[in-house]
Amino acid sequence: MPEERRTNADLEKITDTSDEWIVQRTGIRERRILQDGLGTSDMIVKAVEDLLKHYPRDVKKVDAIIVATSTPDMMMPSTANILAEKLNLEQVTAFDVNAACAGFLHVLDIGAALVESGRHKNVLVVGADKISSYVNIYDRSTNILFGDGAGVVWLEPSEELGIMDSLLLGNGKGTAFLNIEGGGSLFPFTEELLSSSKRHIQQNGKVVFKQAIQSMTEACQEILKRNTLTIEEVDWLVPHQANKRIIDAVGKELKIAGGKTLINIAYYGNTIAATIPLCIWEHRDHLKKGDLMLLTAFGAGFSWGASLLRWSIS
Ligand code: ACO
Repeated sequence: MPEERRTNADLEKITDTSDEWIVQRTGIRERRILQDGLGTSDMIVKAVEDLLKHYPRDVKKVDAIIVATSTPDMMMPSTANILAEKLNLEQVTAFDVNAACAGFLHVLDIGAALVESGRHKNVLVVGADKISSYVNIYDRSTNILFGDGAGVVWLEPSEELGIMDSLLLGNGKGTAFLNIEGGGSLFPFTEELLSSSKRHIQQNGKVVFKQAIQSMTEACQEILKRNTLTIEEVDWLVPHQANKRIIDAVGKELKIAGGKTLINIAYYGNTIAATIPLCIWEHRDHLKKGDLMLLTAFGAGFSWGASLLRWSIS
């Protein structure tokens, strides 16, 4: 997490909003903002350092890096490649995946498949975004929601159960409702574009809100069903942190018992691909070996899904 905080009080000074409105409608009190001059990979390097401090490993053993991000350092090369250089890894499989807010579930699944196949042994999977570079600070429909952050997971072979199943879906029907249009091949940068709304993240909050609840709920129900599990057997639900009301509604639809949903949105907001690993990291001391965890996310595309895993760290 970057150090700099952007509080609701800060936003009250620049847009017509209030701390009360933001807390009531989103559950967010502040977000972290990465300073100018630094990119997504700089947060990932810190996350890797922090991970290795708590769970020592030899970083030279990493043989693949997969970064889920919608806000790469540059259009080219991939942020995973930039990270490889920063970690002094000279021959490593390295690529990015863009599945917006559902990105982390995608890289977790791809990384697990690489390890299970025996093709790779030590895979870093990352969810990271510097979304503040694309937020219009004067737009109260988005500036309240988003913050920057990075989370990283080291995947390695194990005899124990780890990642059990993933259900990953997309339909493209959300393009008009949640996007950053500018800077790609369709709308390349021009002076005109830079002063238009295409330069920033835009959304239809109401459509996204409803669809997020429905899609995450259905993905969770489906993955439980196909693994012959019930919601009562789930120890922890880890939902994408977009809006506390979305999180609460998904929990209610799934009928998960109170206290089993991991939440950290209040102090970070929506960090796009980083929310799930950051939320797990924050609550890791509460997790016990063997706990069944149900992860779910929804984002631009629309893209969404759910994953099941057994926590295997004592
Ligand atoms: N401060 C104060 N008032 C506001 C603000 C604000 N920041 N934004 C809107 N309002 C006003 C509106 O003008 C409206 O006033 P009116 O009733 O006089 O017309 C009123 O508050 C209600 O506005 P709504 O847009 O209906 O507010 P809503 O309850 O839908 O909340 C929000 C808006 C927070 C954006 C919500 O729709 C949301 O969270 N949507 C999901 C968006 C999202 O999560 N996107 C992230 C990417 S996808 C993902 O991660 C799941």
